[in-house]
Amino acid sequence: MGDVMPLKEIEANLEHWEKTILGASTVQELERLKADIIGKSGVVTSAFKLLKDVPSDEKRAFGERLNVAKSRIENAITQQRRKLEDYSILEKLKNETVDVTMPVENDHFGGLHIITQSLRRIRDYYSARGFLVLDGPEVETEFYNFDALNIPKHHPARQSHDTFYLKRCGDMLLRTQTSCVQIRAMQKYGVPLRMISIGKTYRNDQLDATHSPMFHQIEGLVVDTKPITVGHLKSELRKFLEFFFETDSASLRFRPSFFPFTEPSMEFDCRYTKKDGRLIITGQGDKWIELGGAGMVHPNVFTNCGMKEKCYGFAYGLGLERIIMLKHGITDIRNLFDTDQRWLRYYGACA
Ligand code: DAH
Repeated sequence: MGDVMPLKEIEANLEHWEKTILGASTVQELERLKADIIGKSGVVTSAFKLLKDVPSDEKRAFGERLNVAKSRIENAITQQRRKLEDYSILEKLKNETVDVTMPVENDHFGGLHIITQSLRRIRDYYSARGFLVLDGPEVETEFYNFDALNIPKHHPARQSHDTFYLKRCGDMLLRTQTSCVQIRAMQKYGVPLRMISIGKTYRNDQLDATHSPMFHQIEGLVVDTKPITVGHLKSELRKFLEFFFETDSASLRFRPSFFPFTEPSMEFDCRYTKKDGRLIITGQGDKWIELGGAGMVHPNVFTNCGMKEKCYGFAYGLGLERIIMLKHGITDIRNLFDTDQRWLRYYGACA
């Protein structure tokens, strides 16, 4: 028992130990102090052995005093450990700061995604030709997405768009088409008007090689008080597609169709060929591929937009992903929304 420090001495040393602990400058030093004082064979732990020789009426008080000593040491250790940890984090932050002005060693700089590149290229093309390049909200009202486009409630055309309605938000929905921007544009700018809008649209479609619940549409609208004909529409679309596909002459075909907001309505196809097993639009070839819808603006749409004058106009809409895929021979739309670095690098997203 000779080695065991008596309780009185422990209590006399407490303040000194606490000071030493709170002055420890490393975690290792702290661990050593902990082992010496309250570890398995530390001075405080060993003093519990004295308990058996203490008269029974003093045992309780003795135990309590030893526990107080133990918890004072524990508290000091916890306090200092926290301090040392905080300090080491701060040191780390100080030493590991990134100097963003340092020259980069590898050559993988970021780049624009092929969708962004194409979108900007098309916008530039149209704005250089005097078109207004407009945006509209992706969260729309039923009025702009359907009613104003001459698609009344219960019209079967509404069912063909598998719409995402926003719960508890009145008549709000995710727009299913960019045609709603036509309405906003006519309300705001009146006639004459030449505009395009490119943006995201949403439909409750299952994701597969050719469908995505989110895709981009390109919407064009030309309105005037002077007569505008289907001939203008055809020529406009041909010019755009020749520009986009970078071909001298694109052969287009127009088929009668139905859209509530145009009369007459049509769908248009472009000739294509296959090169190395991949679909490549050249504007020439023996096969046809559907690209989008178009038509002469329905008089009801002009009325819904509050146009006072007699107006003429044409409109068209097509999917951005679709023409990008055709131009570049991409066969799966999911690639466009994936993060495969090799694919992205190949298509220019990691220049
Ligand atoms: N909004 C139509 C769709 O999503 C495409 C379309 C057809 C747009 C005819 C037009 C148009 O502007 O005139 O299916």
